[in-house]
Amino acid sequence: MGKPIYVLNGPNLNLLGAREPEVYGRETLDDLRARCERKAAALGFPLEFRQSNHEGELVAWIQEARTKAAGLIVNAGAYTHSSIAILDALAAADLPVIEVHLSNIHRREEFRRHSYVSGVALGQISGFGPTGYLLALRGMYEHLSSRGSKPSVPRARSTRRAGSRKH
Ligand code: DQA
Repeated sequence: MGKPIYVLNGPNLNLLGAREPEVYGRETLDDLRARCERKAAALGFPLEFRQSNHEGELVAWIQEARTKAAGLIVNAGAYTHSSIAILDALAAADLPVIEVHLSNIHRREEFRRHSYVSGVALGQISGFGPTGYLLALRGMYEHLSSRGSKPSVPRARSTRRAGSRKH
């Protein structure tokens, strides 16, 4: 097995399902974790899925990921809009980062439009609810594959070569 992809969730995301369901939906964090685990298993890489309400703990996990992870998927919650510490940790990690938000942060309050995470991210997926995490896992997989550093060899694709498909 190769290095895992870390999926890090910030403050209040432990309340998913109960918290403002009209904005964040009814799915819980455990439901989301299960979906991400299934997707990662299908793509053939290990997953480290975590949530914290504490900025320092998120920074510590990003520092840990620096040596242990292949890439980072980050929903920093409200710290997205405020945390230079998380930005600095992500920059120091020097890993591919994909930013995810359940809601579309660009159609909400003005203060949510600015993201510190975006400054170091490959890209941002915002507004697709839990599906955004699955899109991010797929995007990270494609990115790592294109760099020849995919976490492990996936099942179907590894055997398929141009011109060798049987009809
Ligand atoms: C969020 C958007 C943030 O603005 C907010 O503070 C959150 C969740 C999202 O997933 O839509 O906590 O990151």
